[in-house]
Amino acid sequence: MRIGVLTGGGDAPGLNAAIRAVARAGRRERYEIVGIRNGWLGLLNDDVVELTPEDVRGILHRGGTILGTSRTNPFKVEGGPQRILDRLRAREIDALVAIGGDDTLSVAQKLSELGVRVVGIPKTMDNDIPGTDYTIGFDTAVNVVMDACDKLHPTAEAHHRVMVVEVMGRDAGWVAAVGGLAGGADIILVPEVPFNIDDVCERIKARHNQGMTFSILVVAEGAKPTDIGTQIIQEAPVDAFGHVRLGGIGGVLSRQIEARTGYETRVTVLGHLQRGGSPTVFDRVLATRFGVAAIELIKQGRFGNMVAMHGNRITAVPLAEVLSGEHKLDLTIYELATVVK
Ligand code: F6P
Repeated sequence: MRIGVLTGGGDAPGLNAAIRAVARAGRRERYEIVGIRNGWLGLLNDDVVELTPEDVRGILHRGGTILGTSRTNPFKVEGGPQRILDRLRAREIDALVAIGGDDTLSVAQKLSELGVRVVGIPKTMDNDIPGTDYTIGFDTAVNVVMDACDKLHPTAEAHHRVMVVEVMGRDAGWVAAVGGLAGGADIILVPEVPFNIDDVCERIKARHNQGMTFSILVVAEGAKPTDIGTQIIQEAPVDAFGHVRLGGIGGVLSRQIEARTGYETRVTVLGHLQRGGSPTVFDRVLATRFGVAAIELIKQGRFGNMVAMHGNRITAVPLAEVLSGEHKLDLTIYELATVVK
């Protein structure tokens, strides 16, 4: 068997750990493993490299992906799906391991419907893929958010300032809620719960009236201020999967809070720091378990499935089921932050 592995969409720490696990577990089964460069683009362009056990040595702790990634949607490219089928045949690739978020996995599912033998591995720092409790990259991202809050607390306290921390999260507030909770944020704003800027200011003023002269506010980039009516977007065209580029809510909030409360306010945008650096213990172990489980699915001929984590068990979920569901933020986690503040 020759197995192709690719990483698509935004990168996330732990991708290399997953590639390494696929290559090593595959080798144990005497499969030949090839790496497809830059996600689905590599299949369109025939950019395929051999992936020997030596090629994956020393990558467990590295962020990014040795295979490169892109947000290519072959179903938006003229003749794209057929080119992929032709490439797979010409390269004699018998099965694919697609490591990605909902966009990459939606392509995997469509290819599976066209007869491609494919299994998925869920990754995204957003943790918003249905069918699995955790995705590769989430734990590292929330540790970055927690660390940022820890570092901002003393300077906020010293200067009696409001500190706004903008984190990623287009539609899902997992990163803001879990990272903010762990970092002791006073206010957390997520896309799932639209907010009003005046209410936020009242909450900050109430803290000050109780003698707390600083506040930490964590806001997801996709959070929706009802008084503005829309998400804050940067000027950019939509990508191949129809997403606009978000970002800027932190700056807007910071200016509004300062103007409406009179408290000095600063903003920190964590941006791609949340996707950089070494994966945490949890992400390394999760990625390794997922990579080995993906090879096991191939061995059992269970194509069209995504490996997943339920509780602490690794399982499999049909891709079709994954793509028709939602992994909504557990609002009890979000509400915990208000209970302990
Ligand atoms: O990986 C998903 C994500 O983190 C989103 O939360 C965010 O909107 C997006 O990636 C931004 O990624 P990029 O700058 O690579 O387009």
